[in-house]
Amino acid sequence: MEIVELEVVDSTNRYARDHFDELADGALVVSAAQTAGRGRRGRVWHSPAGVNVYLSFVMKQTNQAFLAGAAAGLAVLDCLSTLAPEVKAYIKWPNDVYVGDRKLAGMLCEGAGVKNGRLLGVIAGIGVNVNLDAAFLSGIDQPATSLAVEAGMEFDVKKVVQGLAKSLLRYYIIYSKYPDRIFRGWKNANRLLGEEIELAAGTGELLRGVFADIAEDGELILISADGTRRHLNCGDVRIRRESVNWKKVASFNYSREVRNE
Ligand code: BTN
Repeated sequence: MEIVELEVVDSTNRYARDHFDELADGALVVSAAQTAGRGRRGRVWHSPAGVNVYLSFVMKQTNQAFLAGAAAGLAVLDCLSTLAPEVKAYIKWPNDVYVGDRKLAGMLCEGAGVKNGRLLGVIAGIGVNVNLDAAFLSGIDQPATSLAVEAGMEFDVKKVVQGLAKSLLRYYIIYSKYPDRIFRGWKNANRLLGEEIELAAGTGELLRGVFADIAEDGELILISADGTRRHLNCGDVRIRRESVNWKKVASFNYSREVRNE
């Protein structure tokens, strides 16, 4: 597996996109720090040196950002469950990794390498909060957590990168053979499915309703109290703490069903 290791870069996604042609299929760009880490919807991704994972995984056998991102999301869950089995992480639509009502990892999937108007691949940029402490986390403008806070111990960031590299390759292979298994596993890992949520839609509207289903193209289906059914392709799900069945959220064993082992 090709791994490009950087000390510091503006954004590993930017690097992977600009070097897309030279990077191998399945390559990983990892940096110890980012000076301009980017999140979804133009947000900043806090990227202090040495305490977290910042990486971009290059996928050249697909240009479907949604399913490729789902495979990468499952790979993150797989790796986390091996490193810290007691931490019950799940996917919060579209592709955040949460523990309870706090964000542990985020993903920014972008198309790359345009040829004759077609995208040649997908870059899955993944940021995992590994050893951020409570003081740093409280300064982030959304509820966030880290592996260290959740597990009560520090982790070797290099080992987390190695684990992710392994899981990403494994799930990329599963995805190339059985995309429907990835879709099913990812949908099931969306543990807020069936719960009452608020959704800050891409339009800026704040919607409330039941997270009823996920369509095959990854769109979230929301049913409001008046029965209105909406398909949404972007937005931020907001957790209504009191209306979530947390026992159900924490009871997911994705690896059994996706890896079929
Ligand atoms: C989000 O949750 O909004 C997505 C966060 C994605 C952050 C990662 S860190 C590595 C890669 N490089 C970036 O600039 N962003 C992604």
